[in-house]
Amino acid sequence: MRLQGKRAVVTGGASGIGRATAIRLVEEGAEVWIGDIDAVAGEEVAATWNGRIHFQHTDVTSADAIAALLHMAEDAGGLDILFNNAGAGGARAAIDAIAPEDWDYTQALLLRSVALGIRYAAPMMAKRGGGAIINTSSVSALGSGYAPTAYSTAKAGVLHLTRLAAADLAQHDIRVNAVIPGFITTNIFTRHLDVSEEKRAQANEAIAGMAAHAQPVRRAGRAEDIAAAVAYLASDDASFVTGTSIVVDGGLTIGTRASWDATQPSLFAALEAFQ
Ligand SMILES: NC(=O)c1ccc[n+]([C@@H]2O[C@H](COP(=O)([O-])OP(=O)(O)OC[C@H]3O[C@@H](n4cnc5c(N)ncnc54)[C@H](O)[C@@H]3O)[C@@H](O)[C@H]2O)c1
Repeated sequence: MRLQGKRAVVTGGASGIGRATAIRLVEEGAEVWIGDIDAVAGEEVAATWNGRIHFQHTDVTSADAIAALLHMAEDAGGLDILFNNAGAGGARAAIDAIAPEDWDYTQALLLRSVALGIRYAAPMMAKRGGGAIINTSSVSALGSGYAPTAYSTAKAGVLHLTRLAAADLAQHDIRVNAVIPGFITTNIFTRHLDVSEEKRAQANEAIAGMAAHAQPVRRAGRAEDIAAAVAYLASDDASFVTGTSIVVDGGLTIGTRASWDATQPSLFAALEAFQ
């Protein structure tokens, strides 16, 4: 019960990482406000955790909507924790083909939303004598090949914003950190597909089949793995931790696949043949 009596806001809390984190924060004693564009799933989470999780329809590309969501926790007694997490894959086009408005939308969804969340939460937290902000980045911030370019660039921006905001807000005892998820089995991979529910279920199944073999740790990444890291960063256990990030990726970014997967062609294995 590390978060007893705390009030938290979680964006993108209707599904996946946000949902699992909202539940984890409640299990550790917090009261949580989730903001999401998916009202059906959001209301369902709130109904299941009646009185501990509240849902507010929130589009994080809207500054007013973010401010309104944060005010709900503020008005209930004060905001202690913000998890800036809502997101989607964004524009998938390559850099030599992307439309300017698609680039802008992706940055607004994944980077501007985080900046504005911090912008509005910080004065509320400063008034209370401090708080904890956690932002969702991605392994795609660390290198190519994980996600589309616009998304990956925004997620790299989230990492740098985390450092700069931590420096700006330390004077108010507000800690700002990021979590870097690897391949986590959620609905994010199939959400954009314009297909029947049956086809979507098939696609989700195919992804689940890949997930256990995508990284050195031999099981699929779960939303709860990220929730555990966020709960730590939100708690006083992390009171000396700010301006940094925790990679939770089952070793996905350790190095080349050949370094941990013996079925992959490797230079060292090739040289063995000449000994
Ligand atoms: N799943 C992964 O492998 C992975 C890896 C790295 C980073 N991430 C990041 O984790 C975060 C959560 O993703 P997830 O995997 O849980 O996906 P998800 O699709 O299960 O959940 C994302 C939630 O965000 C909501 N959302 C989307 N656009 C929104 C908007 N404009 N305003 C408010 N809510 C909005 C969706 O409705 C959904 O409930 C995202 O920022 C994503 O980029 C995910």
